[in-house]
Formats: sequence, C-alpha cells, structure tokens
Amino acid sequence: MRLAGKVAIITGGASGIGLATVRLFLLEGARVAMVDYNEEAGLQAVEQLKSEQFGEQDQVMFVKVNVAEASSVESMVNTVVERFGTLDILVNNAGITKDSMLSKMTLEQWHAVIDVNLNGVFYCTKYAAPHMVQKGKGKIINTSSIVGVSGNIGQTNYSAAKAGIIGMTKTWAKELGFKGVNVNAVAPGFIATGMTAAMPENVLEQMQAKVPLRRLGSPLDIAQAYLFLASEESNYVNGTVLEVDGGLAI
Ligand code: NAI
Repeated sequence: MRLAGKVAIITGGASGIGLATVRLFLLEGARVAMVDYNEEAGLQAVEQLKSEQFGEQDQVMFVKVNVAEASSVESMVNTVVERFGTLDILVNNAGITKDSMLSKMTLEQWHAVIDVNLNGVFYCTKYAAPHMVQKGKGKIINTSSIVGVSGNIGQTNYSAAKAGIIGMTKTWAKELGFKGVNVNAVAPGFIATGMTAAMPENVLEQMQAKVPLRRLGSPLDIAQAYLFLASEESNYVNGTVLEVDGGLAI
C-alpha cells in the first residue's frame, strides 16, 4: 500500500499505459480519477475495475476531458478535489501521435500533437499544482519519450512536444520543489500499446532488435516507474527524466 490515502489524477487513463497505472495505483491504495476524452473506453474500464474490487470503496472515478481544453481541465481538477477532498498526485500521461515527414506534415498535424501533448500537460499542471502547493506536498509525473531526447524520423511534432515536456519538468522542479512538490518525467522507449500496435509488423521487429533487453516494454513497466515517482520512495528525486526503455537510449 505505497499510495494509501493518496488521491491521483491520471490523464489518458482509459487505455494502454494509463489504464495499467490506474489499476496499479488502486492496488496500492490510492483513490484515482481516470481522465480521458474517450468516454466509452473510460466508463467500460471503470465498470471493469469496480467489478473487480474497487467499487465498494468508491476508489475510482472517470472524468471525460480533452486535456487540450484549458477550461475543461480547470473544471476537471475542481471536480476531483470536490469529490475526493484533496489532490496528491498528477500523472500527465495522455498523448497522441500524428506522424509525417517534415515535408508532408500539415499544420493540423503539428497543432493537434502540440495541443494535446504539450499544452495539455501545461494546463493540467497549471490547475493541479496549486492544490499541492497549498498542502505543501505533492508529486507531478510527466510522460516524455526517448524521442524527446534523441528525435525521430516522422515525428517533428511529437519529438518537439516530448522535448518540451523535459524543459517544463525541470522548470517546475525548480519552481515547485521548495514548496514540497516533486516534479519528474518518465521517458518510455517502445511500449506495447495501441500507439505502437498501429505500426507495421516489420518496423516493430526492427525496433525490438535495437533494444538491449530484446523486447518491447509493457504498460506495467511504465506504470511501475510512475508508481516509484508517485510514492514516498522518491521523496528526494526531483527534476529527473527516468528512461524506461530496456536500454534503448544507451
Ligand atoms: P494509448 O493511445 O494507448 O493511450 C493514450 C490515452 O490518452 C488514450 O486513452 C486516449 O484516449 C487518451 N487521450 C489522447 N488524447 C487525449 C486528450 N486530448 N484528452 C484526454 N485524453 C486523451 O497510448 P500509450 O502508449 O498508453 O501512451 C501513453 C503515454 O506514453 C503518451 O503520452 C505517449 O506519448 C507516451 N509514450 C508511449 C510510448 C509507446 O511506445 N507506447 C513511447 C513513449 C511515450
């Protein structure tokens, strides 16, 4: 029970890494707001979780939000704090890809990814952080990517957003650290979720061959890293980017 009594917001919680994180945080005793714009997947996932073991304690709620809309994010944070009474942890996990080579990338593709993956992280943190600062304690975890460090062909928009997240993480670690709030990022490598399932089989095999551990990561591999950064075990970790990539980046 490493998160007993804690309240967490997990964005992009309806599938993939986010859903694995919701489940893990519930198992560790947190009350969790699963935030996602996919209402159907979110409600289904919450029903499933409630049917397992989390229903009676009213431990989990779903909130439909597009993280790219500042005013919706602000009301989502208020809803969660009203319902659960406090806020201890924010996991900025929601993200999308819209890949194209630079020559073909449309302005729509550029803005869509920046809106969700960069602006969304800013909005969620802007509205969640004051609740943590007020109590002098909190944990903010941002989801970057190894491509935010090294770049990736076809991902100008995504790499820019994920690199921006590293800059924001370090800035907030300095701005909020002395107020009791730790801010860190996780940089996943290739993780087996809907995001990577969209890639051709031969590309996935090539990616896997580049990983020293010779496998894709699982959503749980990333959820465990989020858990560490959300728990008391990481109280002296601030402003770091934790690469969870099977050694891909070395
Ligand atoms: P996923 O596609 O399985 O899940 C993303 C979730 O975010 C979905 O439930 C989706 O509905 C939600 N979402 C998307 N846009 C949203 C918005 N505007 N507002 C609210 N919710 C929104 O993706 P996955 O793989 O679980 O990714 C989670 C995070 O990990 C993302 O930030 C992604 O960029 C990052 N990541 C994933 C990697 C991978 O290999 N799968 C590698 C590196 C980073």
